[in-house]
Amino acid sequence: MSDALNYLIKARPEAMTSYFTFLKKAGQHLDPKTRDLISVITKVDAQTDPGFRQYMTRALRNGASPNEIIDALLMAFPTLGLAKIVWATNILIDMDIPEFRPENLFAEPTWHEVTAGSELKDNDVSYFDCDGRSLFVYKSADAIKVYDSRCPHQVTNIPHLALEGTHLTCPKHHWAFDVSTGKCVEVGNRPLNQFEHKLENGKLLAYW
Ligand code: FES
Repeated sequence: MSDALNYLIKARPEAMTSYFTFLKKAGQHLDPKTRDLISVITKVDAQTDPGFRQYMTRALRNGASPNEIIDALLMAFPTLGLAKIVWATNILIDMDIPEFRPENLFAEPTWHEVTAGSELKDNDVSYFDCDGRSLFVYKSADAIKVYDSRCPHQVTNIPHLALEGTHLTCPKHHWAFDVSTGKCVEVGNRPLNQFEHKLENGKLLAYW
């Protein structure tokens, strides 16, 4: 929430509570994905950069595909016009989310070779670039976890340098994660995204 909204909630709690109740009730017959797509369009129309990033990532989390988000933007052309659609597209390009890259828009999920299993050490976190993504891989004596380097908050690509032992801190808004479990341990409330994986012929493969 913006500083301005936080201020208004303190300054006019009753009016603002009514406002948020209105927003909630107004969309009560819509599924979460549809609500999010409508919110994405309103944020683009108002050209609020943080709001667009927030609702776009929320729409992805609630099951919207990149193609559906692009369709929603294009369908709103009569009200947005090309300039606002280009504004939103530039933010998407800046975020560089792998799923939005043109070559990935229609790609089917498949297995990707990450590394040789022998490269992984027990109780250690390794970082890999693999087929256009970055991954953090944690290995214990009896399990392997493969995490997307993209933050579950707003998809920031968390760099290798943000890792200290098994403690990983996103530089954008400082959500922190325990890589041995994937859990968010500071600031935020969602875990790291994990990829399905398997060991095959001595290689670690991940599925996306
Ligand atoms: S993008 Fe907000 S904490 Fe990572």
